[in-house]
Amino acid sequence: MKKLTVHASRSYDIVIGAGLLGDAGAYCKEALGGARRLCIVSDDTVASLYLNQTKESLEAVGFSVEHFVFPHGETSKNTEVLVSLWEFLAERRFTRSDALVALGGGVVGDLCGFCAATFLRGIRFVQIPTTLLAAVDSSVGGKTAVDLRVGKNLVGAFYQPSIVIFDIKTLDTLPREIFSDGCAEVVKYAMIGDRALFDDLSGDIRESIEDIIARCVLHKAEIVEGDEFDRGRRQLLNLGHTFGHAIEACSNLQISHGSAVAMGLVMATRAAVRLGICPSDDLSALIALLERLSLPTECPYSAKELICAALADKKRMGDTVTFVLPFGIGDSRLYPVSVSEMTDLFEKGLTK
Ligand code: NAD
Ligand code: GLY
Repeated sequence: MKKLTVHASRSYDIVIGAGLLGDAGAYCKEALGGARRLCIVSDDTVASLYLNQTKESLEAVGFSVEHFVFPHGETSKNTEVLVSLWEFLAERRFTRSDALVALGGGVVGDLCGFCAATFLRGIRFVQIPTTLLAAVDSSVGGKTAVDLRVGKNLVGAFYQPSIVIFDIKTLDTLPREIFSDGCAEVVKYAMIGDRALFDDLSGDIRESIEDIIARCVLHKAEIVEGDEFDRGRRQLLNLGHTFGHAIEACSNLQISHGSAVAMGLVMATRAAVRLGICPSDDLSALIALLERLSLPTECPYSAKELICAALADKKRMGDTVTFVLPFGIGDSRLYPVSVSEMTDLFEKGLTK
């Protein structure tokens, strides 16, 4: 079992280990002093696998537990589901001393977190991630959001959980392609600042998954502690994401976040190679690693299609867009460009 603490506007522990779902009650009791009622928020797939076990663990330590389940998938991370959850809590008279429990992947965590940030102007919530992506990225750092029709994550809040509990056994039921999606975020951390992690990923990732997750979470915690509100260094975590979000949008969310990030990592690295700031061997090594992890590496859209989608992205600030480019494996840096230079970067990212 591994435990680390994030020191942010609300400080909290992250616990990672096998079988922790059974201990969720004890962890929540400690982290949520004073709470009596909890609402587990989950999607239908995760609920069918883990709702009962989680509920039993929470009830065993004296919590009164409700649950709210919505259809799985990114298309549920919307304002309609959010309003239903607000209404559900209000009808059941949830109060500020009660709390939410996000049981699921990044979709559940982002939506439940945003609901917690806004319901009654803020109630506490717990993250219980059940995907690799959620474990290494979305459950940590307090970014919460829902999507609008014009783009992903356009309405959200920075709102930290009270604890993150990750039971690595939940990965056993994760379909292979969804596990691979999470690997894209793991590779992202390696590309940002950890060459040794990149090298370690050439082994069997599942054999050392607890260690790999803890290393990624440590990177994320360290970055969030230095820049919780995303004004500078935290933007490094967007490596591959400006391209990736555009790819997701072009596909009408049919391409998963992890797959889009994998293609985005390749585009960012290829653009850096074309700019002469990154060795081409590093691009080849990245593509080989992503392929071994069963991730796609080539974007199916044109630069023009991607630009249209990217301009709706919230990370556009005035006339400048902050990209993140690798200067080599383990050495990524912020790279602000004007909107007019963006097209060139997208073209460089696509041209083989
Ligand atoms: P997801 O939550 O949609 O989960 C993927 C699928 O796996 C779903 O169908 C789900 O039902 C299923 N699933 C989840 N856990 C399972 C398990 N243990 N066994 C079997 N099936 C399981 O997607 P995701 O990849 O976890 O997260 C993607 C979302 O996270 C996107 O919306 C993205 O924008 C967001 N995100 C947020 C942040 C952040 O900092 N807040 C960071 C990265 C990504
Ligand atoms: N996933 C990007 C961030 O948390 O900043």
